[in-house]
Amino acid sequence: MQRGCRCWSHRHRLRCRCKGAGMARSAALLLCAQFLSLAGAQPPLLTLDPPWTPLFEGQMVTLTCGTPDEHVPTVWRIDGKSRRNRASRLQHYLWSTGRSSFQCQRPGSEFSLPIELSVSDDSVVLQAPVQPVLEGDALVLRCRGWRDRRLSSASFFHNGVLLRGGGQEGNLLLAPAQRHHSGRYHCTVHTFLRTVESKPNEVIVHELFSVPELSVDGPRDPPEGSALTLACVTRGSPLRPRVALRHLFYRDGVVVAGPQGSPQHLLRALALPDSGSYACEARAEAANVQKRSAPVTITVRRVPVAGATLAAQPPGAQVAAGESLVLSCAVAAGTGPLVFSWHRQGQAQPLAQGPRYELPVARPEDGGRYFCRATDGVTAATSPQLHVTVVVPVAGATVRVAGTEVAVTEVAGTEGERLNLSCAVQAGTAPVAFAWLRDGQEVGEGPILPLGTLGLGHAGAYQCVATNQLGARRAFQVLSPSVALSVTRRGRGQWRGQGKGCVDVAPG
Ligand SMILES: *[C@@H]1O[C@H](CO)[C@@H](O)[C@H](O)[C@H]1NC(C)=O
Repeated sequence: MQRGCRCWSHRHRLRCRCKGAGMARSAALLLCAQFLSLAGAQPPLLTLDPPWTPLFEGQMVTLTCGTPDEHVPTVWRIDGKSRRNRASRLQHYLWSTGRSSFQCQRPGSEFSLPIELSVSDDSVVLQAPVQPVLEGDALVLRCRGWRDRRLSSASFFHNGVLLRGGGQEGNLLLAPAQRHHSGRYHCTVHTFLRTVESKPNEVIVHELFSVPELSVDGPRDPPEGSALTLACVTRGSPLRPRVALRHLFYRDGVVVAGPQGSPQHLLRALALPDSGSYACEARAEAANVQKRSAPVTITVRRVPVAGATLAAQPPGAQVAAGESLVLSCAVAAGTGPLVFSWHRQGQAQPLAQGPRYELPVARPEDGGRYFCRATDGVTAATSPQLHVTVVVPVAGATVRVAGTEVAVTEVAGTEGERLNLSCAVQAGTAPVAFAWLRDGQEVGEGPILPLGTLGLGHAGAYQCVATNQLGARRAFQVLSPSVALSVTRRGRGQWRGQGKGCVDVAPG
């Protein structure tokens, strides 16, 4: 409610008083008006005393429209004619036989549901409740003599069949009332002169709520692992709305959920044993009425394993030796618990189990073709093979004189001599590419640098560069130690270089 306003109920009308002026005040009044129209939407309940039909000609009845209040202008509609009075309670004489109908209206509300009764001048009547009877109610039928006289013994008949003969009480109690209690009732009374029979009275026991229907939001053959919501759908009677219902869910006759207020039951992560015949039950516990739905068969389906795929981290499954490689296996379809296994081509025994296979420190011999297999125990799928490449980076590049096996750091040559250099690496996965530098400038490619016939111009510092690749993006490179080549002019007979790592070159 708007700040500054106070609202209260006075003689069943909502009154508001607002402080301040202008907008706030009018907004508050509008809110009050909305509140009033909502409150007025509910029709009043019309009650009749005595609450029976038929009643006797000349009897007085008391009609009450909602709560019994003085000073409530009430509109009455009796046998189609309207009249007004200033209270919600009215006394009325039943002057003529036949059917009578009553309705009432309080200020700001709709007309009540009508009450219909019959007025009789018979000597014996069978009286039934004038208000609708619903399942679970205590249904009382009365056999009464003229002007509501209590009878010492009466017999009751349902659809012409004797229910109880010659009892001492003029009442028949059927509790809790059930739908099959509907039908035509009459009673007979024995006097010492004759037997008097009442006219039949049609009694209807209305449904309190409909037989529930179990609705399934999804296929009746859901796949394993999926979720399914069951709903217990029932309609309450407009004659008695807002009956509190409790719901139960059954599978193969065993309670799996409830009793609960919610009409829904969620089956999450369905497993094969969740299959079965499901039903639901709605209970109006206060009225002792319970109804069960027709069964619905739910069959949880196993989906065959299919579409196994293998993924690698790093992508491409190419790693440098010493790095880690993780393979993972997945399936496109398949339900239930799956078992994964890892295999290597040419190896009979599986390597491992589980959806992941890790090589924490890849070795060159780990290279090869790998695949995974997934199975649910019945069906299985095998992934395509994945080629794992473990590349050893190039290392330990050295320069030799071609045709020898010893690495050198110095070469003393003579003009006119024939000489080639070669490059070798200690490690490195093939293919290894080589390039040659002289004094830092590239002078050739390939494992051998053919110098041919030495000239003075060949002197300098030589190095080779070895390269190998890991996929298209990564390359490893190593540079050899520098080798000093000196060339002596022909005829001087100079010998250079001695000890390990040096080669003596004979003059040509
Ligand atoms: C040097 O290499 C060239 C070209 O490959 C070859 O023809 C020659 O015989 C080689 N010479 C020596 C001494 O190895």
